[in-house]
Amino acid sequence: MITLSVIKADTGGFVGHSAVHPDLLEAAHVAVNGAVADGLLIDGTVAACGDDISLIMTHEHGANAEPVHGFAWNTFLHTTEIAKRLGLYGAGQDLLSDAFSGNLRGLGPGYAELEFTERPSEPVICFLADKTEPGAWNLPLYKIFADPFNTPGLVIDAKMHAGFKFEVYDLQAEKKITFDCPRELYEMLMYIGAPSRYVVHAVHSKTLPEQAAATSTQRLSLIAGKYVGKDDPVMIVRCQSGLPAVGEVLEPFAFPHAVAGAMRGSHHAPLMPVGVDAAHPSRFDGPPRVVALGFQITNGRLIGPRDLFTDPSFDRARAIANEAMDYLRRHGPFEPHRLGLEDLEYTTMRQLEDRLINRWQPMASPPLPVPM
Ligand code: F6R
Ligand code: MG
Ligand code: MG
Repeated sequence: MITLSVIKADTGGFVGHSAVHPDLLEAAHVAVNGAVADGLLIDGTVAACGDDISLIMTHEHGANAEPVHGFAWNTFLHTTEIAKRLGLYGAGQDLLSDAFSGNLRGLGPGYAELEFTERPSEPVICFLADKTEPGAWNLPLYKIFADPFNTPGLVIDAKMHAGFKFEVYDLQAEKKITFDCPRELYEMLMYIGAPSRYVVHAVHSKTLPEQAAATSTQRLSLIAGKYVGKDDPVMIVRCQSGLPAVGEVLEPFAFPHAVAGAMRGSHHAPLMPVGVDAAHPSRFDGPPRVVALGFQITNGRLIGPRDLFTDPSFDRARAIANEAMDYLRRHGPFEPHRLGLEDLEYTTMRQLEDRLINRWQPMASPPLPVPM
């Protein structure tokens, strides 16, 4: 068994929240190469989407392993130091605790981890997003693993015909449930159609003994009890030979669906698929971006990445995303561009509301006297 871990954090933005400074990426690269040389990791690489650094690592320690999570935590402490020295924006933003204790759960950095026995050929795609929340993966995961209009393999491939099981987290109640699809498609959609609360955490094949997909599912605001930046989730999807093909996994992103995020994490905006070079959201701290890094994993080695959204066949998705952004922006501070009140709960809007709390009168009360 090997484990593929993608662990990410925003440890400082360059400029504002738009990108990662090259010095931070360099430091993360050096750290990962050192961990490979020391034998902690089989292989590793570093990538960025927006202001988030992702450590993409293969190893034999399993998921939630102290040495691997500890290594990521220390690397992020180090990049935070550099960010502080350079005066970068929001240095150490995602490190919500002072102390590491065994694993990264509840500490701020996000992680998706998949344990599997490597197949003779093992194609995987690591998706990294910026300026949005983990529920952003719900719609594409539904399409990839449950929608035959997206994934003909569900109809044509005997190994996929039985369907997939989706593990869904209720992030507010801190509960989880598994839906057996296609039998429970409608039940599942009832929940995952509300992506701010219900998030697909994992997908398993019903035919193969394989976990097919894993996402990072933490909500920073629910951990911190206030708005501290969007979660900027990551996702791993294994492909081919009884799992959806690479093209079936990428196809949902040809539609830049609306997600929560962008400016102040408080707006609906389209999720734009881009190559790594264009993953720097600057207009209205958005539109939210997603990059797709393809690897072949061979004896644990990461052969790649291929920067999959550089394919010009995603140009139209980018054009639609820009058009959708223009349309939504014209709503200014009005819903549905701005998130509904419930989802603004952890922003400073609550403090502003408190200032007016005593000014609200029952509607039936006599009108205030008009000054003469
Ligand atoms: C988006 C995000 C940014 C900030 C915004 C204001 O995830 O974090 O949109 O919310 O740039 O940042 P502050 O309040 O730090 O000036
Ligand atoms: Mg940031
Ligand atoms: Mg970010």
